[in-house]
Amino acid sequence: MKRKKIVAGNWKMNMNLVESKNLISDLKEISAENVDVKIAPSFTNLYMANSSLESSKIEVVSQDIHHEQKGAYTGEISAEMLLSIGIETSIIGHSERRKYFNETDLILSKKVNSAVQNSMKIIFCIGEELSDRNNSNHFEIIKSQLTNGVFHLESKEFKSVVIAYEPVWAIGTGMTANSHQIQEMHEFIRNLIKSNYGVEISENVQILYGGSVKPTNAEEIFSLKDVDGGLIGGASLNSSDFSNIVKAANGG
Ligand code: PGA
Repeated sequence: MKRKKIVAGNWKMNMNLVESKNLISDLKEISAENVDVKIAPSFTNLYMANSSLESSKIEVVSQDIHHEQKGAYTGEISAEMLLSIGIETSIIGHSERRKYFNETDLILSKKVNSAVQNSMKIIFCIGEELSDRNNSNHFEIIKSQLTNGVFHLESKEFKSVVIAYEPVWAIGTGMTANSHQIQEMHEFIRNLIKSNYGVEISENVQILYGGSVKPTNAEEIFSLKDVDGGLIGGASLNSSDFSNIVKAANGG
């Protein structure tokens, strides 16, 4: 089974309108037959980004959604609002949301449900803290994040999920997990999916790695058997770094 690679840029809380326009105009040059390229600008720039990239193959996705459809939730954005501007995929459960905004497994499972109910696709993030790894709890943590966040979905619903494994200690630190650690965890995740949903779904699900992916390490990471691309933070803010990472995913 040959899974298509994904390279998704998570811009986080970076890039104002002018900066976003400039970066997007540089990214329009990217072409990669074998890779699905996605970018996640901030909410304020999603509409502009999606309109500017209408004729390109780059998909614009959101960094988060609220779990309710609508109502008295000041400052929040619903799946339905995103769909109304053409955004069909959302990142859910990024470690920064878990850590700084107290998003628990329960809240994340509700966000996942809202996305599914609205037929939105999901990039669901999981990852252990350094202390979990040092205490050899990393497999348990990953298992519980998946069990509580997405494994309640029915098989056909789970098909709209992409998993992003991002060890928290590797995010924005320059400290990438090594190839052995990455492949071992991706294989573990795929096996868990196999136990829950069967071989076919587990062979088709795309599992991305995130955490200090750079043009210099992308090729090695993407060559690992169970790695289907990457979720890129810092390096996605620089058009030449990002396009070189896409090239690495496209086969060099
Ligand atoms: P990083 O971030 O590439 O800057 O480490 C990855 C992420 O948070 O998705």
